[in-house]
Amino acid sequence: MTDNNPRELARALLARHASGETGAAAADGARTTNGSATATTANGHSAPRGVAHTSFRDHPGVLEAGQRFGRFDAWVEQVGLVNPYYLPHEGVSGAVTRMADRDVVNFSSFGYLDLAADPGVRQAAKDAIDQYGTSAAAVRIVAGELPIYRSLEAEIARVYDTEAALVTASGYLTNAAAVGFLLGKRDLAVCDALIHHSVVSGTEWSRCKRVSFRHNDPESLETILKMSRRSFDRAMVIIEGLYSMDGDVVRLPEIIEVARRYDCSIMIDEAHSFGTLGATGHGVRELFDLPGDAVDVWMGTLSKALGSVGGYLAGNRELVDGFKYVAGGLSMYTAAPAPSAIGAALAGLEVLRDEPERVARLRHNSEYFHRRAKEYGFDIGMSEDSPIIPVMTGADEPAVLAALAMLQRGFSVNAITHPVVPAGEARLRFFVNCRHTEQHMDQALATLREVLDGLADTAGQQFTLAHEEQHS
Ligand SMILES: Cc1ncc(COP(=O)(O)O)c(C=O)c1O
Repeated sequence: MTDNNPRELARALLARHASGETGAAAADGARTTNGSATATTANGHSAPRGVAHTSFRDHPGVLEAGQRFGRFDAWVEQVGLVNPYYLPHEGVSGAVTRMADRDVVNFSSFGYLDLAADPGVRQAAKDAIDQYGTSAAAVRIVAGELPIYRSLEAEIARVYDTEAALVTASGYLTNAAAVGFLLGKRDLAVCDALIHHSVVSGTEWSRCKRVSFRHNDPESLETILKMSRRSFDRAMVIIEGLYSMDGDVVRLPEIIEVARRYDCSIMIDEAHSFGTLGATGHGVRELFDLPGDAVDVWMGTLSKALGSVGGYLAGNRELVDGFKYVAGGLSMYTAAPAPSAIGAALAGLEVLRDEPERVARLRHNSEYFHRRAKEYGFDIGMSEDSPIIPVMTGADEPAVLAALAMLQRGFSVNAITHPVVPAGEARLRFFVNCRHTEQHMDQALATLREVLDGLADTAGQQFTLAHEEQHS
């Protein structure tokens, strides 16, 4: 299963085939026996006439979307603004982006190191297409294996000091499928209260018991484990390296200490910490100077700092083989990642190594933004000198209105509202990028001060959304 030299193996097989040692006739035979696949079905392909299609109009999720966003549409129209959801970015989303034919300073994209814009990274994606096409056109285990997957996996395993790694096509699915695979009905997932939705999906998939401990609080974790650990077969503590809504860093050494004392495995989501934390941007392992086996499952995404798309897992060889050969949705029963995405991520790692000034600049910008935001009197919640900086507004409406007003003034920043964050904890979430200038940050903060102060003055007339919601 753990064939260490697949290329040699493939060469040997092909050499034998070329010299006539294997039976090509077997393949021909298979083709003949499949002949019946060409027969047409008795009913043909068209749907029967007169059968009503399901509209899903009464589906609870469809209903909720219609009500929530319909109301929102009406509200933005009433206050003379545009709906910011799904508003297209018309170019590369770097420190500056293009929206509605205008250049806008961009604080809404998580490309921390500006790698999606890097000419070398873009070229590497194109080279991968030239070499392998736009798709591997298969599941990896059967016919979709490409050498670049293994090159990226070797790099990721090196970064995390683990025996092995696996790259996947989606970060979200990586969490959902890994947790779904690792836990079962008799097991316990102990998640940080702010864990990402993809992990929650994984716990539902696994049908395990899920409990949350207070955000980033080892004592709360211990209280829960003291009460419940004994009632379950296996237990896994699931945390993030850098929390995506709040920008605070996990208290990893203390959480590891508690988890190990209660015989728990540990999985960490490095989506936002990779590229942003640690001296060379290698994430929390580097930040806390930990060995690779301090955590059992290192998970991350290629879509944030690395400027690509996809996910990864790193751990010991047996675990990665389990993910690779049995778990559905990671590598099995799903198409291999796009070659261009893997080419871009590999090139992104090279840039990370060759241009350490990007991480240094990101750190400078993060610290600068924090300092200036505090000088302007903003509440930046729990963020700790990281490139994720929430400016808390409390209620949803000021966050949405301020984001729209910022956009009108040439700054893109997302409003994050309930239910993505708890009710009453809405915010504008700023992502800082290594290419932002101090001027970008100063202008954005000065503009936000003006905007929020202006909103406070006109609160009664502006906040019609809450009014409408109460009467709907
Ligand atoms: C913490 C965290 N984990 C996982 C994901 C999912 O990763 P992806 O967007 O690459 O699918 C995200 C995405 O936003 C995230 O913020």
